[in-house]
Amino acid sequence: MAKDIEIRNLYKIFGKHPERHLEAVKNGLSKAELNDKHNHVLGLNNINITMPGGKITVVMGLSGSGKSTLIRHINRLIEPSAGEVLYDGADICSMNGSSLRDFRRHKTAMVFQKFGLLPHRTVLENSVYGLDIQGIPRKDSLEKGRYWLNRVGLDGYEDNYPNQLSGGMQQRVGLARALTNDADILLMDEAYSALDPLIRVDMQTMLLDLQQELQKTVVFITHDLDEALRLGDHIAILKDGEMVQQGNGQSIIQHPADEYVSDFVRDVNRGRVLQATTVMEPVIPAPESISVLETDTLENIARDMTDANETTARVVDEDGKPVGSIGIESLVAAMVTPAVHDAEEPEPSATVEAQPEKKIA
Ligand SMILES: Nc1ncnc2c1ncn2[C@@H]1O[C@H](COP(=O)(O)OP(=O)(O)OP(=O)(O)O)[C@@H](O)[C@H]1O
Ligand SMILES: [Mg+2]
Repeated sequence: MAKDIEIRNLYKIFGKHPERHLEAVKNGLSKAELNDKHNHVLGLNNINITMPGGKITVVMGLSGSGKSTLIRHINRLIEPSAGEVLYDGADICSMNGSSLRDFRRHKTAMVFQKFGLLPHRTVLENSVYGLDIQGIPRKDSLEKGRYWLNRVGLDGYEDNYPNQLSGGMQQRVGLARALTNDADILLMDEAYSALDPLIRVDMQTMLLDLQQELQKTVVFITHDLDEALRLGDHIAILKDGEMVQQGNGQSIIQHPADEYVSDFVRDVNRGRVLQATTVMEPVIPAPESISVLETDTLENIARDMTDANETTARVVDEDGKPVGSIGIESLVAAMVTPAVHDAEEPEPSATVEAQPEKKIA
């Protein structure tokens, strides 16, 4: 049973004397002030998040918002200025040298954007790199390496060198190497950001397929909202080192917490992402109307309704039990309403104003 990663009151200040500024930051000193007045960088500001065991948590945010800083605390490549990272009852931030080494080797695996493959090792030798470090003899490790290379679609490439492979294939080797480690936690920092769009979607599909079976606790960083929505069971959005919003994709699209999040979700194709359950009414319509699944997307439901010449559909759960209804008007409204955070919502009678200018570069 995979376990949660619990991050509690985590702060990271970069600079010569972080401890001198911690109290001021806790009392509200901003990232800009800390930088201007004290020449220190606020990397993370009081981060609290539970990354559910066996699920994919996606961390999003603009460049410099603290995503890499956050993920590197999970295997403690970065020491926190304050706070805890709890896993299976232990605080990673207070582990001694040998427990930390064991934790890193046996519980975590990383997949990097630049693949991080060793050029003088073959694909197979790269795939067992983590096991070499653990001191597992090659007679045992190579079989595992072959198995995972096969699972990521690289059968027949075992004896090639990394520079003989395309970017997408090298990223598959990176994933195979991480899986060969058999670690509970998979840390992926912009792992797919350097790949071509089509290859990227393939890699997402492969990760989702493998995850159904493996149920690892995955932390996945991306700039790309479509990728976040596709992969993320839980999505966290960082800005200037602070957590501005976390939740599932449906709730973030429907209720962006502020303008920064609205900016992220503004251009999303709502019909393809929002599901019946997000917009349905808890009223059960007459049985003669058509049925749609609660996880069906609005776009598909609109098509089904049009095909059936119906203006209402009954929404059923996966066991076929009716759970609500959805009318064509609310469906269309939800598909076209841009994501505007609550404070920005115009009065019902007001005319629609132009979108406010972006404040974030
Ligand atoms: N070693 C360091 N020393 C000083 N400042 C740092 C260090 N590492 C990160 N920072 C600062 O901490 C903040 C967060 O950086 P981080 O690399 O976590 O951002 P990010 O969200 O991963 O950005 P990107 O999308 O560009 O990868 C930035 O302001 C960055 O300049
Ligand atoms: Mg980064």
